[in-house]
Amino acid sequence: MKLGVVILAAGQGKRMRSSLPKVLHRLADQPLLGHVIDCARALSPQEIVVVHGHGGGQVLDAFAGQSDLRWAEQAEQLGTGHALQQALPALHSADQVLVLYGDVPLILPDTLRQLVEATAHGFGLLTVTLDDPSGYGRIVRNDGGRVQRIVEQRDADPEELTVREVNTGIMCLPRIELERWLSGLSNRNAQGEYYLTDVLAMAVAEGFDIQVCQPASALEAEGVNDRVQLAALERAHQRRLAERLMLDGVTLRDPMRIDIRGRVTHGYDVEIDVNVVLEGDVQLGHGVRIGANCVLRNVSIGDNVEIHEHCVLEQAQVGPGSKIGPFARLRPGAQLAGDAHIGNFVEIKKSQIGRGSKVNHLSYIGDTDIGEGVNIGAGTITCNYDGANKHKTVIADNAFIGSNTALVAPLTVGPNATIGAGSVISRDAPQDKLTLTRAKQLSLNWKRPTKEK
Ligand code: UD1
Ligand code: CA
Repeated sequence: MKLGVVILAAGQGKRMRSSLPKVLHRLADQPLLGHVIDCARALSPQEIVVVHGHGGGQVLDAFAGQSDLRWAEQAEQLGTGHALQQALPALHSADQVLVLYGDVPLILPDTLRQLVEATAHGFGLLTVTLDDPSGYGRIVRNDGGRVQRIVEQRDADPEELTVREVNTGIMCLPRIELERWLSGLSNRNAQGEYYLTDVLAMAVAEGFDIQVCQPASALEAEGVNDRVQLAALERAHQRRLAERLMLDGVTLRDPMRIDIRGRVTHGYDVEIDVNVVLEGDVQLGHGVRIGANCVLRNVSIGDNVEIHEHCVLEQAQVGPGSKIGPFARLRPGAQLAGDAHIGNFVEIKKSQIGRGSKVNHLSYIGDTDIGEGVNIGAGTITCNYDGANKHKTVIADNAFIGSNTALVAPLTVGPNATIGAGSVISRDAPQDKLTLTRAKQLSLNWKRPTKEK
């Protein structure tokens, strides 16, 4: 069978009260629709068609350049059946159609695989059983337990309303029949819409046996209608990611207090304290420890690195055995070879830090190459910007920079050079020498003024 996935994403999402189309609201920092597309891709279908409508331009822009996606416009939202109809011309080769929803982001590939396999030549439906089924279409079964039809809440009679098994909307249908069924839909119902759900009764009338699957968790079928639900699904998703990490060997001090907004790869025995945010592509080696309240965005962290509390690392590489923070900031292009110490209130931007070098307190290091075994004293500033251009500082192996030094770039400090504390260094400092700029220290006779009585 050739599988085509259609994702319905044309609804406006009024209850979001937003100028952004609902499917572009973000869960784990990715648009809702992106989660559904990723799930669809995991099934390796022949084709994926997204039905867009409200704010369609914005939706198309958000996924520009993703050439495996096809788009169908539903200019007017006349119902889920009508939406699917708009997708048919874009389905070129599929003979089995799986319907997903752009605002149902937590659906899992395994669940869909089961549904697709169960319905090779038939009609498959994903249902869930809820304590409170209100709002959903109810699954109506006959005395033999066979599914007969779906009745929408607003069209249901009191007995039907007591049914707790509901339609998730996710279905898998045969292409040829689907085309025929959709063209036979009417909008004579409480909402005046063309309901996709009505094709089920047509299939039953033609003798199709409906294959029903249920997801492992009802969360998979939950949709986002307002920002309260969005936040609830965000938490559920984070909980799921946290559990996956723990089962993969990461210790989380509190799985309720971590946020993963991207892809994390890791070695064994990583330990993460509370309120840590991991964004983008985050690689953690073996034995990495991350203290409370850190943000790591697109970083690669080597084995046995310790990142203490309150650090922000972005587009940085930290070599093995390094110690960072507390209160350190590694900005884009910070590259630490290994065994480095970066201490409190230190900012490092676009700089290499050689093996075993230390920048322990209150420093700014920008556009700088630091060799191995260098010690940068407290309060050292590389003055890399003259107001128009950025300039480079080079500090060779085993140099020692005294505290409160300003290094005015461009500048080279030679190997094993020492810079005296409090210096403003604006020319190269030679190898092995002590270089300093310092006003002479004076001691004068002096009487402090006293207050008149
Ligand atoms: C639909 C189902 C209901 C099911 C529920 C699950 C129908 C008629 N009813 O109801 O049985 O229990 O989902 O959440 O299908 N959409 C379009 N174009 C349209 C209309 C909708 O793209 O013209 C999209 C929406 O963006 C949304 C999805 O389809 O993602 C569902 O639409 P919605 O109107 O919310 O359906 P429900 O009334 O919730
Ligand atoms: Ca509706």
